[in-house]
Amino acid sequence: ASDDLAAQFDQIVADGARIEPRDWMPDGYRSTLIRQIAQHAHSEIIGMQPEGNWLTRAPSLRRKAILMAKVQDEAGHGLYLYSAAETLGADRADLTGKLIEGRQKYSSIFNYPTPTFADVGTIGWLVDGAAICNQVPLCRTSFGPYARAMIRVCKEESFHQRQGYELLTTMMRGTPAQRRMVQESVDRWWWPALMMFGPPDDSSPNTAQSMAWGIKRHTNDELRQRFVDMSVPQAEALGVTFPDPDLVWNAERGHHDFGEPDWSEFMEVVKGNGATNLERIAVRRAAHEDGAWVRDAATAFAAREQEDDR
Ligand code: ACO
Repeated sequence: ASDDLAAQFDQIVADGARIEPRDWMPDGYRSTLIRQIAQHAHSEIIGMQPEGNWLTRAPSLRRKAILMAKVQDEAGHGLYLYSAAETLGADRADLTGKLIEGRQKYSSIFNYPTPTFADVGTIGWLVDGAAICNQVPLCRTSFGPYARAMIRVCKEESFHQRQGYELLTTMMRGTPAQRRMVQESVDRWWWPALMMFGPPDDSSPNTAQSMAWGIKRHTNDELRQRFVDMSVPQAEALGVTFPDPDLVWNAERGHHDFGEPDWSEFMEVVKGNGATNLERIAVRRAAHEDGAWVRDAATAFAAREQEDDR
């Protein structure tokens, strides 16, 4: 019977259809998804911090309202993704515990500081742009709840990307100092944005199996290339350059050639040695501990409601 179930699983994956929570699945498929979805959820939650930094200092009420809505969206994405992980048997409290103990990863990109307001725009344009590039294909990932979560997440990310680009466009129409601020911000974020896609294919331990299971639909390098090709004309329209002397159109390939990100920097950031790793985790831990009374109150309230229902 277990052979039948395995054959059924293989068939669903081969057909490009969806595996649902109650379907049989290999243990490795389940654990890979929990790993990836948890990392993704943690990234959304930690990702609130770099931009949240500017909420109290946004230059206008309009910018503040937009930024607040955006940061709240990220919280929503995180909760949505934790729920998707729960359909696989994971426990949200346990995942949060692993995050604040540094036992589960979140995206490298959120370990860089945001010293200028232009960073809000650059994060929207490049970081959310890279996230969309990675997540649109995940709308077709083989696990149903993850794929469906990605549809809504991608719609909201597109709004985030546009607000970032619009912010930068406005600054580029401003003073020379504002234009310099945009370029300086782009110079700092370009390489880290390329690293978001993960290590090169030949040193990505999970890609081959995740592709075979239909969890990933493209390799890390394929998506990185797509992002570079997509970003170059946007940079031209904006009037900024990327800090890569090797970035050039290759007519033969029909793609841009580009330089190699500093993978030793990536490894260090993933290991926890980036500029803001400690701060990000400390802030998350404090928020979790400060929120204990809310969870206790909600649990007590739910218990009393259940009691009243009886
Ligand atoms: N930051 C931190 N860790 C990373 C990153 C990154 N940018 N890229 C890869 N890694 C980790 C992987 O999690 C993996 O760790 P583990 O095996 O110890 O758990 C290791 O590096 C090796 O990488 P891969 O074998 O390439 O891992 P994987 O197949 O999971 O691919 C990828 C990585 C592309 C990030 C994939 O997990 C994915 O598509 N995730 C969903 C998207 C996501 O998490 N986005 C978060 C940022 S976007 C946002 O939140 C706005």
